Amino acid sequence: MQQPRRKSQGQGGASRRVVKNALEIGGIVPGETTVIEKTGGNFGFGLALACAEIGVSVELVVGLSFSPVKRQCLEFFGAKLIGIDMLKKGAAPREVILRYLVNAESMGKRYFYTDQFNNIGSLEAHLEETGPELSRQLAVGFPHVKRLSFVACAGTGASLTGIARSLRASGFQIDVVLVEPEGCDSSTGKFCDHPFEGMSVGVSPPFLDWTHINQTQWVRFSDVVKTQRRISVERGFFVGNTSAACLHVAMQMRNHLAADHKVLTIVYDHGLWYLNTIFADPTLTLRAD
Ligand SMILES: Cc1ncc(COP(=O)(O)O)c(C=O)c1O
Repeated sequence: MQQPRRKSQGQGGASRRVVKNALEIGGIVPGETTVIEKTGGNFGFGLALACAEIGVSVELVVGLSFSPVKRQCLEFFGAKLIGIDMLKKGAAPREVILRYLVNAESMGKRYFYTDQFNNIGSLEAHLEETGPELSRQLAVGFPHVKRLSFVACAGTGASLTGIARSLRASGFQIDVVLVEPEGCDSSTGKFCDHPFEGMSVGVSPPFLDWTHINQTQWVRFSDVVKTQRRISVERGFFVGNTSAACLHVAMQMRNHLAADHKVLTIVYDHGLWYLNTIFADPTLTLRAD
């Protein structure tokens, strides 16, 4: 018997929703439109897959500092990486997007810019899909749980806000801990370079509802890597850098909780993408200690 196709959730669900919304309003017309976006993260993977399904081309501007394996994999999934020459000359990804949009006609293209930092579709997807999916899993796995400490990070803030709002609407008492790299503070617009691709990305997260945030915890990469290795060894999950950052904080909070209280966090992706950041950092001790 043929199995029903499983629709991906989380970030994949977010891009899928954005594509679906654009199809409905005629912004994307298969056979005519090319989707364009600046991303090297999960949103880009979701776009590549959602668009491949409906035969729509995708062109992505991926910052040069993004994981090389991710870049290759995006191409493997059918996305075309554009603007590399401009990026090499120092242009910002948004400048590349602008150049392509302005010159679309002369290139014979009809672009649809999904604009993830201003597209409400991601927030809708996390509110209506990821959040309810988590509530269902919690109801089955931990029916006695009423209180949640939700540990998450923010790029656009769509996943954190959508999930937090949905869980609260489902009746959970929830407090939210925002995780940020040491040296960054999204609340004041202070950002720095760091190896946690996907969080604290240099702009204030547009969908982050600060009324949900009860506290911020700052993490150091060298500490996070120890947790990353520990989870791999003890649990068999080699999680990505932002996931490990959230798990690092979540694991410090999980002791001494009441019976109806759990810590919840998100595993955004896996660690193989980021071996370059882990092995390239001379300050890290890569032996187990
Ligand atoms: C690896 C990773 N972590 C965290 C995030 C943050 O997600 P959001 O944009 O929903 O805040 C992203 C976003 O794509 C990501 O790719």
